[in-house]
Amino acid sequence: MFVTFEGVEGCGKTTQARMLAELLRGRGVEVVETREPGGSPIGPALRALLLSDGSDLLPSTELLLYAAERSEHVARVIRPALERGAWVVCDRYGDATRAYQAFGRGLPREAVERVHALATGGLEPGLTLFLRLPVEKALTRARSRNSTSSSAEGRFEAEEEAFHRRVAEGYEALAREFPRRIRPVDGGGSREAVFERIRGIVELLLHV
Ligand code: TMP
Repeated sequence: MFVTFEGVEGCGKTTQARMLAELLRGRGVEVVETREPGGSPIGPALRALLLSDGSDLLPSTELLLYAAERSEHVARVIRPALERGAWVVCDRYGDATRAYQAFGRGLPREAVERVHALATGGLEPGLTLFLRLPVEKALTRARSRNSTSSSAEGRFEAEEEAFHRRVAEGYEALAREFPRRIRPVDGGGSREAVFERIRGIVELLLHV
C-alpha cells in the first residue's frame, strides 16, 4: 500500500507520517518511510538545489527537477518496496507538484500531468492524507521552525502569502477532483488528536 501525506508547509504532515509508520510497524507491517524531495539516491543533492534560499529557478526548471527526483524515487525506492509487499509512507508526492507547480506557480496543469506521468509510469498512491490547516497558522509554524534550525531550506517559506493561498486552494481542488484517494484531515489540535483522525481513516479504509 502506498500512502502519501500532503498539505502546505507547517501543516504537521512530517510528524504524522512518522506516527503512522510507527503504528503500522507495531502491527507487524514492513514500512518504508520516505519523502520528496529527498527520498531517492540523488534526492539530497536535488533537495538542496530546490529548497536553498540561493536558488533562482524558473517554474519549468523546478517542475522538471521535482520530476527528475521522482523518477529515480519511484523506480529505485517506491516500486521495489511495494513489489515486496511493504507499505510506503511518503511525505509529499505528485499532489505537491500539482498544488505548487500548477496552482502555485501557474504552469499549465496538462504539462504538469504529462511530466508527472513520465516520471512515475502512472503510479498513484492508494491513499493521500491531506492535512488542512489555515495558511497563516501553518506558515507561522514553518517559518519559526526554519528560523530556529540550521537548515537553509527557506525558498518556499519565503514566498508571499498569496502563493501559499493558491497552493492551499489547489489542494482543496485536488481533494474534490480525487475524492476517493485524497482524504482531507483537520490538522488543528495536538499531534495526538490529529493522529487519532488519521488512525480512524486508515483503519476504516485499509483494515490494518
Ligand atoms: P517540505 O520538506 O516541507 O515537504 O518541503 C518541500 C518543499 O518542496 C515544499 O515547499 C513544497 C515543495 N515541493 C514542490 O513545490 N513540488 C513538489 O513536487 C514537491 C514534492 C515539493
